[in-house]
Amino acid sequence: MSKVVTHEEFKKHQSKSDFYVLIHDKVYDVSKFLDEHPGGDEVIMAEAGKDATEAFEDVGHSDEARALLAGMLVGTFDGGDTFVKKKKTIAPGSVKPSSSDSGSSITYLLPLAALGAYFAYRFYFQG
Ligand code: HEM
Repeated sequence: MSKVVTHEEFKKHQSKSDFYVLIHDKVYDVSKFLDEHPGGDEVIMAEAGKDATEAFEDVGHSDEARALLAGMLVGTFDGGDTFVKKKKTIAPGSVKPSSSDSGSSITYLLPLAALGAYFAYRFYFQG
């Protein structure tokens, strides 16, 4: 089982009759399964050459579906530096720069400052 599939190798198997899919750092040969997939072959083929982990997990596949995967295992994926996998947790732009924090505190302080100014105005000019 310990076969290592490189990105180069992975890319060679992206036709309908010879299709590899990458899920959780493992490469699976789903060529024979494509026609049987309850979700259709298109959705799997849309993940050609990509990390299909997110697509696979988003559907919430059953344990049976996961068990099927085991039977189609080719090996472990090693994309080297040429392949950037999707990272679910750290999406670009999802981490706000710290400067935007001061932005939110200004929106919070401004009405307070306006209120303070209003009472100061009343105190000096109408008292
Ligand atoms: C390549 C490995 C995959 C296997 C072995 C697999 C297996 C299965 C199985 C057995 C089902 C029936 C429901 C269940 O048991 O969860 C299913 C449903 C489904 N799968 Fe996959 N799947 C794979 C990949 C994908 C991918 C990459 C997508 C991309 C979006 C996908 C989308 C769906 C959808 C949308 C359904 C629901 C179909 C329906 O209920 O009408 N699957 N899959």
